[in-house]
Amino acid sequence: MDAIWTALKDHAAKTKARRILSLFDAPERAQQFSWRLGDMMLDAAKTNLDADALALLCDLARAAELEGRRAAMFEGAAINQTEGRAVLHSALRAPSGPIVVDGQDVLPEIVAARARLFAFADGVRSGAITGAGGRYTDVVNIGIGGSDLGPAMATLALAPYHDGPRLHYVSNVDGAHINDTLQGLDPKTTLVIVASKTFTTIETMTNAETARTWMARSVADPAAQFVAVSTALARTSAFGIAPDRVFGFADWVGGRYSLWGPIGLGLVLAIGPARFTAVLAGASAMDDHFRTAPIAQNMPVILALVGVWHNQVLGHATRAVLPYDQRLARLPAYLQQLEMESNGKRVAMDGSDLAQHSGPVVWGEPGTNGQHAFYQLIHQGTRVIPCEFLIAAEGHEPELAHHHRLLLANCFAQSEALMRGRSLDAARELMAAQGLAGAELERQALHRVFPGNRPSTTLIYRKLTPFVLGQIIALYEHRVFVEGVILGINSFDQWGVELGKVLATALEPVLAGAADGADKDGSTRQLIDFVRGS
Ligand code: F6P
Repeated sequence: MDAIWTALKDHAAKTKARRILSLFDAPERAQQFSWRLGDMMLDAAKTNLDADALALLCDLARAAELEGRRAAMFEGAAINQTEGRAVLHSALRAPSGPIVVDGQDVLPEIVAARARLFAFADGVRSGAITGAGGRYTDVVNIGIGGSDLGPAMATLALAPYHDGPRLHYVSNVDGAHINDTLQGLDPKTTLVIVASKTFTTIETMTNAETARTWMARSVADPAAQFVAVSTALARTSAFGIAPDRVFGFADWVGGRYSLWGPIGLGLVLAIGPARFTAVLAGASAMDDHFRTAPIAQNMPVILALVGVWHNQVLGHATRAVLPYDQRLARLPAYLQQLEMESNGKRVAMDGSDLAQHSGPVVWGEPGTNGQHAFYQLIHQGTRVIPCEFLIAAEGHEPELAHHHRLLLANCFAQSEALMRGRSLDAARELMAAQGLAGAELERQALHRVFPGNRPSTTLIYRKLTPFVLGQIIALYEHRVFVEGVILGINSFDQWGVELGKVLATALEPVLAGAADGADKDGSTRQLIDFVRGS
């Protein structure tokens, strides 16, 4: 692989000064650098990728044995080597099997678990399953990380399809989060989901206990209004949740990949089993495409290769995710966990130092809001930030079609502006048109120059339906996998989150005054003293 990396970096150096806009001199540029799947198109034409670079990137994927690694994942091999687990979130949305893990077809169990989940959701939605005060009006999902971000992001994304109880998501251990959420809710008509793969996460367990105390003030049997979603069934019963209110899943579903099963309960309650099934179908369609399409026509692979080109080859350390969709406001946060927890690793699978940089810093906000905040830096800052736009051709509000037209116009204008920029001559003309001349014109013009040549991709789809949302999420999941394979990373563990947890556990008694914290450094000591007022 070293020779391919070298060839890629040489090619990048040679083409660095080339204007992306000049690539459109070739009339087929837009078609050649866009990929379609059903009602969705990924346009990567506004990047500096050319046919040679793409061919080398495809070679890189082949040299990393992507096809074999992909097959191993879908076949249930224990590719999460540091935890000795298979990686089979795709099984949760598979239409047919067998899917064999440790010699056993796991599909029948998945189907049965889903039927149970759906029956419960139907019961709550129809009013057949009630709380102490009758029909449930509100549901509070308590979870964090993968037990929050996926369902919270998708619940907001599919707001036009909500016809169930109101959903609220509580994640932060900051008491403000649960306090502000529970305020105004009626405990008698509120269902609480405690979602935690491990059922040990301190934030979730603390919030769950607070919610139980809140519930117990008004409800005789508070546990009856709780359900648990977890792989740790013994711990859920220790918490007091009856087995018929516990929805389990297997440990080969990673937390940040768990939306597709019981962790998606909040979403199922909001939109109903039929629409949730459409989300699964969208993801499954993307799985089929990812499994079968050749590397150079494979949308998740291409998205990953664009990412590798920008980050590891060109050295752009961050990636902005810019959904022009207010309902995808939580997508950047969701992708931060998906991408940064998966590929934010410093060693390869065998423990050796990574030969390339790890995955990028992912950040973003919905457009058009970001335009009025941080786009200044994207357009005129000294660093290049590859941008990834997402937008639907149609909104869900036909009576507000003029809003959507403006949204589209802004999205397309931004990628065009990033690519074109504005030359000094054009800036001078602009100033002259405004009546400036001489030294003042020159001075003002300099501030109005946009270097341009800044890359972006656009993922466009007809409408953000449940099916399309499923496709989008699976697209990103597989992109992360492909980038991980190319970098030689295990994308499915997260040891980097452990140290802080251990230290927090040790610090809590110090803050409570039950331990002295004498082993702490001067800065940490000073912070503790500040809290104590000493
Ligand atoms: O601390 C990180 C993490 O383990 C994530 O990987 C996970 O999604 C999150 O915490 C929540 O974990 P759990 O679902 O076990 O509460």
